[in-house]
Amino acid sequence: MTEAVRLGINGQRVDVRAPIGRTLAEVLRDDLGLTGTKVACGEGHCGACTVLADGKPRLSCISLVHQFDGAEITTIEGLRDHPLVNAFVTADALQCGFCTPGQIVSAAALVAEKPEPSREEIRHAMAGNICRCGAYPKIEEAITRWRD
Ligand code: FES
Ligand code: FES
Repeated sequence: MTEAVRLGINGQRVDVRAPIGRTLAEVLRDDLGLTGTKVACGEGHCGACTVLADGKPRLSCISLVHQFDGAEITTIEGLRDHPLVNAFVTADALQCGFCTPGQIVSAAALVAEKPEPSREEIRHAMAGNICRCGAYPKIEEAITRWRD
């Protein structure tokens, strides 16, 4: 049995039907083809699946889609023109495609609230996004200089 859920996704209204218990990540990736959102651990530990819901970072792998009825979801596809993308490229902050979408989504939430975050604020905001290859200094650099 499926139930309807009404979402805003990257500025467009999307009506989906999904079984109770389906995650937001499954709907985004499998039902809507928005595969920029990655699922790595699938257990809420790594941050790879981060999307914004009404501007706040949420872990889509452990979030049930029906919790978001009426919410505005922003995925990495919706941030393709965000200056952070170029900043990550310029700072050489992306070494894999797995953690990077979640890193940029979390960083976008941070700079929307604090356009000039301190190093501490960056570390705090990005603490839930694991980079297994240790690009953290470059990620911090990118977020510090995102408007350059
Ligand atoms: S894939 Fe969601 S937190 Fe790791
Ligand atoms: S850049 Fe993705 S794990 Fe480090």
